[in-house]
Amino acid sequence: MANQTILVTGGAGFIGSNFILYWMNNHPEDKIINLDALTYAGNTKNLASVSDLPNYIFVEGNITDRELVDRLMASCDIVVHFAAESHVDRSILNPDTFIQTNIIGTHVLLESALHNDIKHFHHISTDEVFGSLKLGSDTQFSEHTPYDPRSPYSASKASSDHLVRAYGETYGLNYTITNCSNNYGEYQFPEKLIPLAISHILADKPVPVYGDGLQVRDWLYVQDHCTAIEKVLQSGKSQETYVVGGLTEDIPNIEVVKTILRIMKKPEDMLIHVTDRAGHDVRYSVNWSKIESDLGWKPSVSFEEGMQKTVAWYLANEAWWKPLVSANAAYFKKNYQGRE
Ligand SMILES: NC(=O)c1ccc[n+]([C@@H]2O[C@H](COP(=O)([O-])OP(=O)(O)OC[C@H]3O[C@@H](n4cnc5c(N)ncnc54)[C@H](O)[C@@H]3O)[C@@H](O)[C@H]2O)c1
Repeated sequence: MANQTILVTGGAGFIGSNFILYWMNNHPEDKIINLDALTYAGNTKNLASVSDLPNYIFVEGNITDRELVDRLMASCDIVVHFAAESHVDRSILNPDTFIQTNIIGTHVLLESALHNDIKHFHHISTDEVFGSLKLGSDTQFSEHTPYDPRSPYSASKASSDHLVRAYGETYGLNYTITNCSNNYGEYQFPEKLIPLAISHILADKPVPVYGDGLQVRDWLYVQDHCTAIEKVLQSGKSQETYVVGGLTEDIPNIEVVKTILRIMKKPEDMLIHVTDRAGHDVRYSVNWSKIESDLGWKPSVSFEEGMQKTVAWYLANEAWWKPLVSANAAYFKKNYQGRE
C-alpha cells in the first residue's frame, strides 16, 4: 500500500482526526485528503500538527456535494468514510441531518467511488445497528447478528451499511465495513459520556447519568480502533464486515463514571441521575473474535489504562475542550434537564 492517496471523510471529528494523525505518523509515504463539513463536531485544531505537511490536504465541504466529491475522488485510491452525524441524543432532537449526512451522503460517496474506480471503500459503522441486548445475558453482537436499529442515529447508520453492501453486490464495489463499539480517548467532543463526565468534574459540576446508569456499553480506546482500521485496509477481505470492540467484560455506565471519579480523586456523590434517554439501548457487547482470528488484531489498551490516558489528556488540554462546552451550553442544558 505504498504511495496511496486516501480520501478521509469526517477527518476533523473525533475518530477521523485520531486516524489521520495515526496514519500520517505510520504511513508517511501516503497522501491524505480530509473532506469535512466542520459541523459542531469538526475541529481543525485536532490536526494542527499535520496541517502544514505537503501530503495532507484539508477540504472544507459536504459529502452530499457530488461535484466536489467527484473532483476529490478523481485523484484517490482509497476512501475511509467516517463522516456522520454521530450523537444519538441529537438524532432524537433532530433526525433530519442524520438522514442527510449518514444516508444521502454515503450514497453520494458510493456513486462517486464507482464512477472514479476507487480501489477500496472502507465504511466506518457502529455496533448500535444491532439494537440492544438483554442486561445480564451473555449474548454478544457479531458479524452475524441481524440488524435491529432503535434510534434515528442507528437507523441511519444501518441504512448506510445496507447501501454499502448493495453497491458491493450489485456493482462489484470493493468495500469493507467495520462495526465498532463506543470509542473513547483524545479529541472526543465533550457531549459523549466519558469526556462529558471528565469535563463536568473538572468544572466542579455534578455528572449527569441517564436513568439508573446500569446500561452496558463496550468501550474501545480510539488508538486501538485506528489499528483495527489499518489491519482491515491492509489485509481485510473484499466485501467483508468486521466487528471491533475493546472489552471482555460488561461495565455499566455508572461504573464508568465511578472509575473516572476514582482516577480524578473525587467523591461518588458528584454523580447525579437524570431522566433516561428515550428508547435507551440497555446493553451492547461485542464479539471481536473474527478480526482477531482472520487479521490478527486485538485491543492493546485495557479499560483502566485507556481511562487513565484519557483523563490525563483532558486535564492537559482544557484549552481544547472548554470553548466547546461554552459554545454548546444551550444544548447541554436542554438535554440534561437543566444540568449543563
Ligand atoms: N464515537 C463513537 O463511539 C463511534 C462508535 C461507533 C461508530 N462510530 C462511527 O464513527 C464515525 C466517526 O465518529 P466520530 O465519533 O468521530 O464522530 P464525530 O461526530 O466526532 O465527527 C464527525 C465528523 O464528520 C463531519 N461531518 C458531519 N457531517 C458531514 C457532512 N455532511 N459532510 C462532511 N463532513 C461531515 C463533522 O464535521 C465531524 O468532523 C461515524 O461514522 C460514527 O457513526 C463512532
